[in-house]
Amino acid sequence: MELKWDAPFLLLLLSLCFLSSSRCFDLDPRDQDSPLRFRSPVADPGLRLATWSGCNCTNWTGVSCGNQTGRVVSMNLANMNFLKTLDLSHNSFGGVVPDDTMELRQLRELVPNGNRELGGVLPSWIGNFSSNLKKLELGSNSFHGEMPDSLFHLKSLKHLDLGDNCLSGNIHEFHQSLEFLNLSLNRLYGTLPCFADLTRSLTVLTLADNSLVGRIPTCIASLQVLAHLNLSFNHLSYGISCWFLAKSHIGCV
Ligand SMILES: *[C@@H]1O[C@H](CO)[C@@H](O)[C@H](O)[C@H]1NC(C)=O
Ligand SMILES: *[C@@H]1O[C@H](CO)[C@@H](O)[C@H](O)[C@H]1NC(C)=O
Ligand SMILES: *[C@@H]1O[C@H](CO)[C@@H](O)[C@H](O)[C@H]1NC(C)=O
Ligand SMILES: *[C@@H]1O[C@H](CO)[C@@H](O)[C@H](O)[C@H]1NC(C)=O
Ligand SMILES: *[C@@H]1O[C@H](CO)[C@@H](O)[C@H](O)[C@H]1NC(C)=O
Ligand SMILES: *[C@@H]1O[C@H](CO)[C@@H](O)[C@H](O)[C@H]1NC(C)=O
Repeated sequence: MELKWDAPFLLLLLSLCFLSSSRCFDLDPRDQDSPLRFRSPVADPGLRLATWSGCNCTNWTGVSCGNQTGRVVSMNLANMNFLKTLDLSHNSFGGVVPDDTMELRQLRELVPNGNRELGGVLPSWIGNFSSNLKKLELGSNSFHGEMPDSLFHLKSLKHLDLGDNCLSGNIHEFHQSLEFLNLSLNRLYGTLPCFADLTRSLTVLTLADNSLVGRIPTCIASLQVLAHLNLSFNHLSYGISCWFLAKSHIGCV
């Protein structure tokens, strides 16, 4: 049960070390721009992360550092299944999302966006390992292939950002009360669905910079709370009513 990242040189810094005022002997200074924000805003009832302080890697339960470099080389997630949030954004992680992540069944937010070397095919479990998952931000990584079915069905999901990857395939109907959907800057193709289950929830829909074709279905006009719509840089024909376009601030052409 180890979180191992495939990158040959793994750059991480645990934020408490980063914020510590004392000098961190164990830390490579180059790592300071690339902090790992690993936080649990909700309770840590067993105080399992209480040992996570100071700059001595030995004290950080479940974390292993290189002897010489002071860089974190692996994290054992076995005892961290209480985590609610895993924010690994804007680091230098590479490789694929490790399967051990699916042990984090309480997770509400998984935010590893902005790690350009992190990619591969989205694992099929990504949408259903935690029945509490609300926010999935995988933007500006290097994922390719199709979105797994689990993403379209996870009931708890509210916020899905897969923008700026290399995802392909069709956009299917989402079967939950999604509020935010960003799939822009990918290689998605096919026609637009109606987003019929999102009529009362979706406020942001951006699908710009893909290869979507066909007319914009009139049913899109029934997205009642939509405040931001961006479909630009596709091959869509704008065949929906002026009323709706005006409502969406697109302008009527
Ligand atoms: C590491 O933990 C030990 C035992 O809890 C403590 O005495 C020591 O001060 C800690 N070291 C650092 C650098 O935080
Ligand atoms: C780090 O902590 C361990 C265990 O608490 C201790 O044996 C070791 O000497 C400490 N290393 C440094 C550099 O303080
Ligand atoms: C880390 O320390 C162990 C034991 O002291 C040693 O066998 C190993 O070669 C060291 N690894 C590195 C990468 O320095
Ligand atoms: C996720 O869904 C797949 C089928 O889509 C199922 O086989 C698997 O057991 C599910 N996993 C969880 C943790 O619910
Ligand atoms: C959607 O994702 C793209 C690519 O990451 C980003 O540039 C854009 O700002 C995002 N849009 C919104 C509304 O968050
Ligand atoms: C829509 O998306 C395009 C392409 O990403 C971007 O250039 C444009 O600024 C976006 N428009 C709005 C209103 O956000």
